[in-house]
Amino acid sequence: MAEVVPLPLVEPQPEGRPVLVVDLGGQYAQLIARRVRECRVYSELVPASVSPEEVRRRRARALVLSGGPASVYAEGAPRVDPGLFELGVPVLGICYGMQLMAQDLGGRVERTGASEFGRTELEAETGSLLFEGLPGEQVAWMSHRDSVTAAPPGASVVAGSPSTPIAAFEDTARGLYAVQFHPEVVHTAHGMEILKNFLYRAADAPPLWTPASVIEVEVERIRAQVGRERVLCALSGGVDSAVAALIVYKAVGDQLTCVFVDHGFLRKDEALQVVETFDRHFRVPLVHVDARVRFLSRLAAVVDPEEKRKRIGEEFIRVFEGEARKLGRVPYLVQGTLYSDVIESGGTGDVAAKIKSHHNVGGLPEEIDFELVEPLRMLFKDEVRRVGEELGLPETMVWRHPFPGPGLAIRIIGEVTEERLATLREADAILLEEVRRAGLYRELWQCFAVLPAIKSVGVQGDERTYAYPIVIRAVTSEDAMTADWARLPYDLLETISGRIINEIPQVNRVALDLSSKPPATIEWE
Ligand code: XMP
Repeated sequence: MAEVVPLPLVEPQPEGRPVLVVDLGGQYAQLIARRVRECRVYSELVPASVSPEEVRRRRARALVLSGGPASVYAEGAPRVDPGLFELGVPVLGICYGMQLMAQDLGGRVERTGASEFGRTELEAETGSLLFEGLPGEQVAWMSHRDSVTAAPPGASVVAGSPSTPIAAFEDTARGLYAVQFHPEVVHTAHGMEILKNFLYRAADAPPLWTPASVIEVEVERIRAQVGRERVLCALSGGVDSAVAALIVYKAVGDQLTCVFVDHGFLRKDEALQVVETFDRHFRVPLVHVDARVRFLSRLAAVVDPEEKRKRIGEEFIRVFEGEARKLGRVPYLVQGTLYSDVIESGGTGDVAAKIKSHHNVGGLPEEIDFELVEPLRMLFKDEVRRVGEELGLPETMVWRHPFPGPGLAIRIIGEVTEERLATLREADAILLEEVRRAGLYRELWQCFAVLPAIKSVGVQGDERTYAYPIVIRAVTSEDAMTADWARLPYDLLETISGRIINEIPQVNRVALDLSSKPPATIEWE
């Protein structure tokens, strides 16, 4: 008799079985989702109101309940449907999430008076699932006022700290796990390993996902969305629009047209690189609009920063719409919206703070008559870069520092003229070349040159000079909300200063900006 060969089980794409991070209002919910993805398991944020039916429908591998600022007893504190704990889907509660689990599952939460903030010594049960393979004594990062004083019936306590005897519990039979500390922050020494123990062992989630897996999913989705219609994309030279354009091109090929408006305020060779990369290398249909003269004349005699921004924004829309009109009927527009924008505009629902509505690429107006295609809407910024590398974008484009839409125009204080643009562009190029050569480019959030509207006296050879200074602005930051001035090595600063002064006749002095944000901003205008 012929051998019966079982049909292979079709394992769905990782995106088909996500780990759902339930957002309970903590600033760390996004970070948890990113960390889960770093463990190569696909995850998404969902609001606290997520129903057990929804979790079942999404075929969630696991649930992670995030931290949050509330006390479980406070009125209006976020709650979850206790039915979530009955689904047989493994749950990990973190901080507030742990306390919610304790409360809903028959344990106890109290304000013991023993708050913990920051570094805490943990005594962990190495025979437990969460801490298997890890040292019994370890450092964890805590931030809580309330504490769990009784674990739910059936759960065992698997970690404690001097002031919080129940710092972690688990009930492997029911798939319930909880930690009082934050495994997602880097200060928790073994945080990633604890997350991996939960994901790989408790939730049985295979580490298969990579940011590049999103490409295939998005390609299918975009094909279904746009059918045979045409798609327009505004390229800026930045990584988001570049990656978005390449994914859409992969999906619909020549149905895509990219429009690159060169307003003349880009850095040295940037415009050239966009054309080289998209037109020559990837052969993406590209309309290159050389609008440098138009933009410069719009800025003639303008010195007010807001006025500069306003005029550049308006002119950009005018040029872009003009080009779009020439292309005939194009119903779709690509937008480089990121997952963090989706979350911040309240995309996950009720709890995530509605911080801002996401920015439009290139500052396109809200009322523009296009349907949006958003290929990056499930990706975090660092994941976009990884997808960019995967798609073969040049390293300089993938790792480019953030660059403001109005470009060098807001790094020239006072009037923007052709001559002043050329001066700043050269100084900026020298600065970046030397920072790259020193291997520091990727360690900085941003690094650029600023051209103030003053001149000072100097002496070169036997001659008195009266020329511009250049200011070096280099900052470290996590998210541009706050920033610190970067401690660039003196030797590097000396090289940069020497080269800028010697190679650019319009400059006779180099200064370093030593301001943090706040009170200063990163840009000068
Ligand atoms: P500030 O100067 O406010 O900048 O500390 C914070 C971050 O935003 C960038 N930035 C802009 N980005 N259009 C943009 O696309 C703009 O008009 C703009 N202004 C500032 C800035 O480079 C920094 O990363």
